[in-house]
Amino acid sequence: MPKDKISAAKFLHGTQQEKMEFVTAFTEALKKNGWAVLTDLGLESKEVDEMFQWNKRLFDAPKDWTVKNRVTGTNGLTPDRATGPASRGYGAVNSEKIWKLKSENSFKQSQRQDLKEFFDMGPPDDTEYPTAFPPESVLPGFSDFMKVKYYRLQEVATQLMGALEIGLGLPPNALTQKCEPVNSELRFNHYPPLQATSRQGGLRSVGHTDLGVLTLLFADGVAGLEFENRATGAFEMAETRGSQEMLVNISDTLERWTNGVLRGGLHRVSGAGVGDQSVMPTRRSIVFFYKADMQSGSGPLEEFVSEKNPARYDDVTVDEFLRRMNARLYK
Ligand SMILES: [Fe+2]
Repeated sequence: MPKDKISAAKFLHGTQQEKMEFVTAFTEALKKNGWAVLTDLGLESKEVDEMFQWNKRLFDAPKDWTVKNRVTGTNGLTPDRATGPASRGYGAVNSEKIWKLKSENSFKQSQRQDLKEFFDMGPPDDTEYPTAFPPESVLPGFSDFMKVKYYRLQEVATQLMGALEIGLGLPPNALTQKCEPVNSELRFNHYPPLQATSRQGGLRSVGHTDLGVLTLLFADGVAGLEFENRATGAFEMAETRGSQEMLVNISDTLERWTNGVLRGGLHRVSGAGVGDQSVMPTRRSIVFFYKADMQSGSGPLEEFVSEKNPARYDDVTVDEFLRRMNARLYK
């Protein structure tokens, strides 16, 4: 399990040799563990802190607007997550059935829950799957703020994908071109405080991998995020601290493209690490699901397929793959 943080400064500002040092360390960490913690990304602490402030304002605000948000499909309202390939707008506690992403039978009844509420934003110019924001009267300035941050995080993710293309020996843009037009999702998570007696198995979110290509995550410092240690099979704490550190994990689409060379980082959110407190404190995270264009293929790239190593994943479009997974997650 990675104990060291990897500084991205050399990749962004270093010599060719320094750039390659980052590429090697980053690619190897992701191959080995499925996740890594990065620092020095060129993001101001203030930028990330502001996202956490908006996260609090959003989930503290009256939720009347989310009733309208639940209407699906037309007139600029949120599309139905269960039948579409996208997730947009507000989602209440337990609206994601995360335990269905892996084998449902592997989770105890008490673990079949997801104790977060969330807000997802898609591409600002997406008219097919538009994001229903809270009205300006409820949260003035929120949608404008989010649009700026969306493109900022898309830029960071694209740079990291460029590093992975080099690390995997792929031609420039081999992966990033499959992510245009932009189709990522910016998510705010809020895990409300819980009485210890309500911990129900001690998990706020059960073990899963994410659906997109790469996931970027900032956490507020409240413990809980754990990744599988692939050597032992046990989950271990992988907490980042506030705005200075960003966690990156491989998600399903990239596992499919690389035919399993890069495997999705299996993670969960537990109540462990918060001691014997009778209340599990509020936890917030900012997540950027870097996703592929809906019309791209989701199957392995030819560079990762051979007679000895045949394709392990079917080459359906990203649209179809995400619909398949969303049907499990939201139905
Ligand atoms: Fe996740």
